[in-house]
Amino acid sequence: MSLLNDQYEVDTRLYDGARFEVLRARRREDDLPVILKLLKETQPSPEHIARLRREAETMRSVESPYVIRYHGFETDQRRWVLVQEDFGGVPIAAMIREPQHELGAKLEVAISLVRGIDDLHSKSVIHKDINPTNVLWNVDSGELKIIDFGISTVLSQENPDFFNANWLEGTLAYISPEQTGRTNAPVDYRTDYYSLGVTLYELFSGERPFTSTDPLELVYAHIAKRPVPPPGEVPGGAGPAGRGDHEAAREVAQGPLPERLRHPLRSPALPG
Ligand SMILES: Nc1ncnc2c1ncn2[C@@H]1O[C@H](COP(=O)(O)OP(=O)(O)OP(=O)(O)O)[C@@H](O)[C@H]1O
Ligand SMILES: [Mg+2]
Repeated sequence: MSLLNDQYEVDTRLYDGARFEVLRARRREDDLPVILKLLKETQPSPEHIARLRREAETMRSVESPYVIRYHGFETDQRRWVLVQEDFGGVPIAAMIREPQHELGAKLEVAISLVRGIDDLHSKSVIHKDINPTNVLWNVDSGELKIIDFGISTVLSQENPDFFNANWLEGTLAYISPEQTGRTNAPVDYRTDYYSLGVTLYELFSGERPFTSTDPLELVYAHIAKRPVPPPGEVPGGAGPAGRGDHEAAREVAQGPLPERLRHPLRSPALPG
């Protein structure tokens, strides 16, 4: 009996990474569109299984319109699968690459992302890997959802161990100084704010604050350097003095907000 073929009708492969593949599929039982995140190994170590299970548990523990919904964790003892919602989202990394998106759309993305992170923190979940590949957006519905709880923790604070083999967990271009394990600071919910900052910098400027192909140089930059303000041009807009951008920004800031953006931001629920 094969979990994939018997229970799911696989449509496309969305991602093929070192540890996981991600498939778009339909659950045969009820025709539900789903996304399957599968361990690639057919004989994974207990540690790898436990990690995917932990990811599933974390996803399940957070109910938010801005967080991808959990549909199940399944295995046929050959494949281990985290089943999640398919809302037709694509990573905002694509939005960053495509200059046609208007400032207004980017502001909506930014606001939804902040709300999503706030929802995670109110459930004591620290994501620890906020970056443009882990934030999905549906261009038609405007929905935004955070994915990938692979290295998240359900804690208000932890002390990274410099000698821990996982000391550079998280995507390096977006990692906070404390998450590098090279500062004495504990990792708490604020690590997500740093990664959010890098993500927004890139979303609005099209560039990253620090770029280096040398991992140690990047770590050094996060710890010791001040990011340079992005150049005046806003990709997809009419330039630094472009009326289009300013008008769009004002419209989003002052105009009637879409229903999904109407709830006031909560103050952080975790100790500072
Ligand atoms: N629910 C989803 N809807 C649409 N695309 C998705 C979904 N979940 C994952 N993806 C796609 O698959 C990619 C990888 O998924 P995810 O971020 O969960 O894996 P990962 O833990 O980063 O994998 P690895 O550890 O191999 O880098 C995402 O960047 C996104 O492109
Ligand atoms: Mg990811």
